[in-house]
Amino acid sequence: MTSHEGHAKIAWADAHMPLRQRLRNDFLEERPFAGKKVAMSIHLEAKTACLAMLLRDGGAQVWVTGSNPLSTQDDVAAALAEENGIFVHARHGASEDEYVADLRSVLKPEPEMILDDGGDLVELLHAAPDRPILGGCEETTTGVARLRARSQAGTLRFPMFAVNDALMKHLFDNRYGTGQSTWDGILRSTNLLVAGKNVVVAGYGWCSRGIAMRAQGLGARVTVTEVDPVKAIEALMDGFVVAPMVEAIRDADFVVTATGCVDVVTEDALCGAKDGCLLANAGHFNVEINLEHLKAMSASIRETRKGVMEYTLQDGRKLYVLGEGRLVNLALGDGHPVEIMDISFAVQALTLRHLVLHAPLEPGLHAVPDSIDAKVAAMKLETLDVSIDTLSETQRRYLGLDSEGA
Ligand SMILES: NC(=O)c1ccc[n+]([C@@H]2O[C@H](COP(=O)([O-])OP(=O)(O)OC[C@H]3O[C@@H](n4cnc5c(N)ncnc54)[C@H](O)[C@@H]3O)[C@@H](O)[C@H]2O)c1
Repeated sequence: MTSHEGHAKIAWADAHMPLRQRLRNDFLEERPFAGKKVAMSIHLEAKTACLAMLLRDGGAQVWVTGSNPLSTQDDVAAALAEENGIFVHARHGASEDEYVADLRSVLKPEPEMILDDGGDLVELLHAAPDRPILGGCEETTTGVARLRARSQAGTLRFPMFAVNDALMKHLFDNRYGTGQSTWDGILRSTNLLVAGKNVVVAGYGWCSRGIAMRAQGLGARVTVTEVDPVKAIEALMDGFVVAPMVEAIRDADFVVTATGCVDVVTEDALCGAKDGCLLANAGHFNVEINLEHLKAMSASIRETRKGVMEYTLQDGRKLYVLGEGRLVNLALGDGHPVEIMDISFAVQALTLRHLVLHAPLEPGLHAVPDSIDAKVAAMKLETLDVSIDTLSETQRRYLGLDSEGA
């Protein structure tokens, strides 16, 4: 695979990542990661390449692999591998064994820090014999859920920061990033109209509310499915219809899952799906649409467009699955908009810097310090050339806050 196109993609992303450019200038001077080895497992495309280069510019040697076999872009991987101090082990369409072998390869140099997306690196490190590690960062909701389970069981043996839970991450990345890029992936791969169609969105969490909001903006009639009564009421009050999946799917033209849960589109739901329904997932793992049952129900299966599998059921209905039920925005698109990942990766880079500066930290799940959220928000506003008001001394006293700088 030629690296030429990969370099062009990286240059385009970089030109739209003002926070990265500011941090790069700071890091080149400060070199916070001097002498450190970092292993990254992340959706390997142009923005993540920019993050790897930022850590390298901060003094680290960086080993990079994918966090999903379909989201790795080979041209970007080839371009990144040509960078000094960056070592790439990833390929698009890796088999399960190749995917795990690549994860093992980035851990081989015994990195002091990891940057994980989904929790696969952390799991492998726990299967390996003890060795010193400063800790790391976790990018996504599903990975944080896995870490929280380990932390509560007392088996997480090094500090990990829940980057996903930082406000400057999930408020923008999960909601506006997934909201836009999920539809980008669906529309690129199908070339179909959304206006006037029935869209069912599974979940009303950070990602799924973004997907529902953007479907509404495209002119769809949107139904939300939930298991959390509070989220269901939020969806209702935001103007959506709320119904169980087995009911909602009967009229659905598109079903999009983003729950982090398993078997969300069940066998029962698939049995009642409308002829021609398109099924896509934006949750971390490809477990939300029950593909095993869909296969078992089908008389024939074929790829009808790139990334679109047509399942012809025994009764003649046709259902379509996009991107093998993997995160559709990355499997069939370029992932989140560049400016969104610029914010998320500023949080990542500053959190890794915090980890180095404060090492050794207690093992377990750590929250990203509020000061990092505040710094990233202030930097983002500056790059947008937007000013806001500041509290006066009188206002601070009235609100019972310490005086400024105290
Ligand atoms: N595609 C991407 O680029 C991308 C980006 C960020 C996060 N993610 C992933 O998306 C998933 C969701 O993340 P989030 O931040 O929105 O999580 P979240 O916890 O904010 O929301 C999940 C929602 O799904 C609901 N839910 C759970 N099981 C359900 C079920 N069976 N049926 C209907 N609703 C159900 C929950 O009640 C919750 O409201 C995770 O796997 C996360 O890792 C993907």
